[in-house]
Amino acid sequence: MWKTIVKPSPKWFALILGISLLLPAYAASKADKEDKEDAKSDKKAVPTAMLTDEEKDAKLALIAKAKFKDIDACVSCHDAENEFPVFPIFKTKHAVKADPRSPMANKECESCHGAGTVHTKAKKSEKRGGSIINFGKNAWTPVKDQNEKCLACHQTHQRIEWKGSTHAFNEVACASCHSIHTAKDPVLDRQTQPKVCFGCHANEQAKFQQTSHHPVREGKMGCSECHDAHGGNASGLKIKASVREKCTSCHAEKRGPFLWDHAPAAEDCNLCHTPHGSNQPALLKKRVPQLCQECHSPAGHPSVSYNGSKLLAGSMFLGAKSCSNCHSAVHGSNHPSGVTQLR
Ligand code: HEC
Ligand code: HEC
Ligand code: HEC
Ligand code: HEC
Ligand code: HEC
Ligand code: HEC
Ligand code: HEC
Ligand code: HEC
Ligand code: HEC
Ligand code: HEC
Repeated sequence: MWKTIVKPSPKWFALILGISLLLPAYAASKADKEDKEDAKSDKKAVPTAMLTDEEKDAKLALIAKAKFKDIDACVSCHDAENEFPVFPIFKTKHAVKADPRSPMANKECESCHGAGTVHTKAKKSEKRGGSIINFGKNAWTPVKDQNEKCLACHQTHQRIEWKGSTHAFNEVACASCHSIHTAKDPVLDRQTQPKVCFGCHANEQAKFQQTSHHPVREGKMGCSECHDAHGGNASGLKIKASVREKCTSCHAEKRGPFLWDHAPAAEDCNLCHTPHGSNQPALLKKRVPQLCQECHSPAGHPSVSYNGSKLLAGSMFLGAKSCSNCHSAVHGSNHPSGVTQLR
C-alpha cells in the first residue's frame, strides 16, 4: 500500500510542489493586498507637526542605516491605483534610464526617498508614514534633509546657486516649487509657473492684477524671465544691482547711453517704474507730474520767470497736464538739442 504513495507519480509531485510554492505566495499576496489597502486608506502623509525634532532625528538616523531595496519593492505597494499617483514620474527626465546621472539609473525611487527597508519592513500595526524621506512643505522630513537629497545631484551638474539664496535662507523646499511625480512640472512652464509662486506670494499676485502690468497673467512671460528662483549672481532673486540691465535686456531702446542721459534712467528704472503692476499708466510708481516733482522743484523751472500771467493757477507746466507732453524723451535723448529731454 505505502509503495503506491512513495512511488513518486509525476501527478502527485506536481501537486505537492504546487501547494508548497503557492501557500507562502498566497500569504504574501494577502499581506500585500492589505498593505495596498492600507496605502490607499491612509491618505495623509505624516505631517511635520506630529513629530518632535528629536523624533525626526531618530527616524533620519534609522533611515540612514537602512538597506536599499529596489523599485519593484516600492511599486508593489505604490501601484497605479495608489492614492498618490507615483507613476507619472516615468514620463519625466528623472526616469530616463539611459542617462547615467538619472535616479532610475541609480538607486531608483530611493535616490530621492532614501534607503527603504525601515519603511518596507514596518509592521502593519505601526504607521508606515514617517519611516522614509518624504517631500514638500508639509512632510515630516526637515526641509534641509529633503533638499540635500536633490542637491546631491543638482549641485554638481547644474549651475544652481541655491545655498545662500533667499529661498534657501527661508527654508523653502525644492518640492514646494517642483512637482516630481507629475508628467509636466508646472513650475517649469511659464503659463503655469506664476500660480506656483503665488501660492506664497499673494502680494505679487495682487500687483499683477493692476491695470498696467507685465503680461504674466496673460501667460506671455513667467516670473523666471526676471527672477532666478534658486538665487545666483547677476540674475539672482534680489535683482537690484542689475535691475536696469534686466529691464533693458528686453527694452533695449531704453538702454543708452544717450547723448543726453536722464540721470535716473541711467541709474535704476525702478526710480520711476514698479516692476510687477501699477494702477498708473506705463507701470509708473506715481502719475506725472507728481513723479517728476519728487525730484524736480517746479519753482526752478526756467520758463516760470517768462510767464507771469498765472493764467493756469500758477503753473503752465501743470496746466499742460504733464511734464512729458514737452519732455517726451524722459529716458534720454539722442537729439542734438535734446539736452532738456524735449525731443
Ligand atoms: C508593503 C507596502 C509598501 C511598500 C513595499 C512600500 N510602501 Fe511606501 N507606503 C506604504 C503605505 C501604506 C504608506 C502610507 C503611510 C501613511 O501615510 O501612514 C506609504 C507611504 C510612503 C511615503 C510617504 C511617507 C511619509 O512619511 O509620509 C513614501 C515617500 C513612500 N511610501 C515611498 C516608498 C518607497 C520609495 C518604497 C520602496 C523603497 C515604498 N514606499 C515601499 C506602503 C508601502
Ligand atoms: C527625483 C526624486 C524622486 C524620485 C526618483 C521618486 N520620488 Fe517619490 N516623491 C518625490 C517628491 C519631491 C515627492 C513630493 C510630491 C511631489 O513633488 O510630486 C514625492 C512623493 C512621493 C509619494 C507620496 C508621499 C505622500 O506624501 O503621500 C510616494 C508614495 C512616492 N513619492 C513614492 C515614490 C516611488 C514609489 C518612487 C519610484 C517609482 C519615487 N517616489 C521616486 C521625489 C521623488
Ligand atoms: C540621482 C540624481 C538625481 C536626484 C537625486 C534628483 N535629480 Fe533632478 N534631475 C537629475 C537628472 C539627471 C536630470 C536631467 C537633467 C538634464 O536632462 O539635463 C534631472 C532633472 C531635473 C529637473 C528638470 C526637469 C526638466 O523637465 O527639465 C528638475 C526640476 C529636477 N531635476 C529637480 C529635482 C528635485 C526637486 C529633486 C529632489 C526631490 C531632484 N531633482 C533629485 C538627477 C537627479
Ligand atoms: C521658489 C521656487 C523654486 C524652488 C524652491 C526651487 N526651484 Fe528649481 N526651478 C524653479 C523654476 C521657476 C525653474 C525654471 C527656471 C527657468 O525656467 O529658467 C526651476 C528649474 C530647475 C531645474 C532645471 C534647470 C534647468 O536649467 O533646466 C532644476 C534641476 C531645479 N530647478 C532644481 C531645483 C532644486 C534641486 C531645488 C532645491 C535645492 C530647487 N530647484 C528649488 C523654481 C524653484
Ligand atoms: C513655499 C513658499 C514659496 C514659494 C512657492 C515661492 N516663494 Fe519666493 N519667497 C518665499 C519666502 C519665504 C521668501 C522670503 C520672504 C519674503 O520676501 O516674502 C521669498 C522671497 C522671494 C523673493 C524676494 C527675494 C529677496 O531677496 O527679497 C523673490 C523675488 C521670490 N521669492 C520669487 C519667487 C518666485 C519667482 C517663485 C516661483 C517660481 C517663488 N518665489 C515661490 C517663499 C516662497
Ligand atoms: C519684468 C521683470 C519681473 C517679472 C516678470 C517679475 N518680477 Fe518680481 N521683481 C522684479 C524686480 C525688478 C523686483 C525688485 C527687485 C529688487 O528690488 O531688487 C522684483 C521683486 C520681487 C519680489 C520682492 C518684493 C519685495 O517687495 O521685496 C518678489 C517676492 C517677486 N518679485 C516675485 C515675483 C513673482 C512671484 C513673479 C511672477 C508672478 C515676478 N516677481 C515677476 C522684476 C520682475
Ligand atoms: C523678458 C522681457 C522683459 C523684461 C526683462 C522687462 N520687460 Fe517690460 N515689458 C515686456 C513686455 C512683453 C511688455 C508688454 C508689451 C506690450 O504689451 O506691448 C512690457 C511692458 C513694459 C512697460 C509698459 C507697460 C504698459 O502698461 O504700457 C513698461 C513701463 C515696462 N515694461 C518696464 C519694464 C521695466 C522697468 C523692467 C525692469 C524691471 C522691464 N520692463 C523688464 C517685457 C519685458
Ligand atoms: C525718470 C523717470 C523714469 C525712469 C527712471 C524710467 N522711466 Fe520708463 N517711463 C517713464 C515715463 C514717464 C513713461 C511714460 C511715457 C509716456 O507717457 O509716453 C515711461 C514709459 C516707459 C515704457 C513704455 C512706453 C515706451 O516708451 O515704450 C517703457 C517700456 C519704459 N518706460 C521702460 C523703462 C526702462 C527700461 C527704464 C530703465 C532703463 C525706464 N523706463 C526708466 C519714466 C521713467
Ligand atoms: C529720481 C529723481 C528724478 C525723477 C523722478 C525725475 N528726474 Fe529729471 N532729473 C533728475 C536728475 C538727477 C537730473 C540731472 C540734473 C542735473 O544734471 O543737474 C535730471 C534731469 C532732468 C532734465 C534735464 C535737466 C538738464 O539740465 O539737463 C529734465 C528736463 C528732467 N530731468 C525732466 C524730468 C521729467 C519730465 C521727469 C518726470 C517724467 C523727471 N525728470 C523725473 C532726477 C529725476
Ligand atoms: C510747455 C512745455 C513744458 C512743460 C509742460 C514742462 N517743461 Fe520743463 N522745460 C521746458 C522747456 C522749453 C525747457 C528748456 C528751457 C531752456 O532751455 O531754457 C524746460 C526745462 C526743464 C528743466 C531743466 C531746468 C534747468 O535748470 O535747466 C527741467 C528740470 C524741467 N524742465 C522739468 C520739468 C518738469 C518737472 C515739468 C513738469 C512739472 C516740466 N518741466 C514741464 C518746457 C516744458
